[in-house]
Amino acid sequence: MKDFLQNKIFNIISEAADEQNQECYVIGGFVRDIFLNRPSKDIDVVVVGSGIELAKRVAAKLGKKANLSVFKNFGTAQVKLNDLEVEFVGARRESYQRDSRNPIVEDGTLEDDQNRRDFTINALALCLNKDRFGELVDPFGGIEDLKNFVLRTPLNPDITFSDDPLRMMRGIRFSSQLGFFLESNTFDAIARNKERIEIISKERIAEELNKIILSRKPSIGFILLEKTGLLELIFPELLALKGAETKDGVGHKDNFYHTLAVLDGLCEHTDNLWLRWAALLHDIGKPRSKRFDARMGWTFHNHNFVGEKMLPEIFKRMKLPTNEKLKYVQKLVTLHMRPIVLSEEEVTDSAIRRLLFDAGDDIDDLMMLCEADITSKNPDKVKRFRSNFQLVRKKLKEIEEKDKVRNFQPPISGQEIMETFNLPACATVGEIKMRIKDAILDGIIPNEYEAAKKYMSEVAKELGVNG
Ligand code: CTP
Repeated sequence: MKDFLQNKIFNIISEAADEQNQECYVIGGFVRDIFLNRPSKDIDVVVVGSGIELAKRVAAKLGKKANLSVFKNFGTAQVKLNDLEVEFVGARRESYQRDSRNPIVEDGTLEDDQNRRDFTINALALCLNKDRFGELVDPFGGIEDLKNFVLRTPLNPDITFSDDPLRMMRGIRFSSQLGFFLESNTFDAIARNKERIEIISKERIAEELNKIILSRKPSIGFILLEKTGLLELIFPELLALKGAETKDGVGHKDNFYHTLAVLDGLCEHTDNLWLRWAALLHDIGKPRSKRFDARMGWTFHNHNFVGEKMLPEIFKRMKLPTNEKLKYVQKLVTLHMRPIVLSEEEVTDSAIRRLLFDAGDDIDDLMMLCEADITSKNPDKVKRFRSNFQLVRKKLKEIEEKDKVRNFQPPISGQEIMETFNLPACATVGEIKMRIKDAILDGIIPNEYEAAKKYMSEVAKELGVNG
């Protein structure tokens, strides 16, 4: 085990702890990640005594290179050394009250400290004192659980989750991130304690959701959220996608599992968190726009627009950023049908120009999302869609090279229109401007100033405006 503690910071902590005559361990995620071969820069150190005193001594030994921050209220301290962050805390025993995540904390032993941790694999400790340097302390069989890819709480899971309900989200996130399984008793306890999630802040929940979405196969996390009943409480709009109704013998696909297939598929090509969110939300408007028509069967008309309108409220409630990230996701949700429709029809230059104009710099992300959206089980259909998509991509490239409409700014401004025709700011100015834009996008005139000016005069004449 000593091999894993080669960084000289561990020797310095070891010396400092011995000088203070205190037991000291590296614990938690850092130790877990050693065994999982996931290098980590966040080191948690537990000392049976004062974490702050030990941190001060370590910082003094490191001299100027290190940066010490003390959090007196929490009884913790942090030492930063280059890109390493070491948190020092005294071993604790905790007792919780029902309505708060904030426990009553008392000094405790290493065992007390390990007892209060979330999962056996996160309760592993490596001793740092010189005479026991590298000795593993694993009271709950964490190593065995690591080998078997199992997530299990050290204590009765009802206590562990009720004490700190965020751990339910963490367990599901670790399943998704590490490909581990929730041991059945642990899983059942999440289902039993799900209502306790209400004492967790929306920000913390969003943080875990982001980590699930950033994992290699996010569907694992979302299926567990659904199965434990947490999804209904934290993200009911997503749960509403679940189910496949049948009427007069006509069914539709289950949009929950379809959405997850799209998200997993997209994740093979991008780590962009907000593009991944767009995949998760692309069909969010379907339940509200679902209709049955005897002739057409099931339809979801305008579900993209309905979805786009739902997003501000969802982002606000879930404490997701309501800035340009929201706008980006809205744009992709609104536009997500366009490339598919194009690939089904004959692709006109004008339709391609309009798509480029509307998507702007996000066109490549939109195309990636739409390609992931092809999840049909019929291989012929998938093949046909994919080859049509190639055609759309080729056309997009050609038209962009030729017409440069991706970040198109109309060559004639509203100001110029007003000055030319001596008009105040009014609807007519808007109309002339829009007609010029449409003419360029439809390929009636080139994207050039002179052509636009000439066209402007024609439109003005038609509208009875005299210059
Ligand atoms: N921990 C816990 N319950 C929590 C949060 C943390 O028991 N709600 C314990 C676990 O032992 C965990 C350690 O504190 O390993 C450190 O927590 P943190 O740094 O948040 O998580 P990591 O497990 O290191 O994993 P990650 O950084 O991926 O969140």
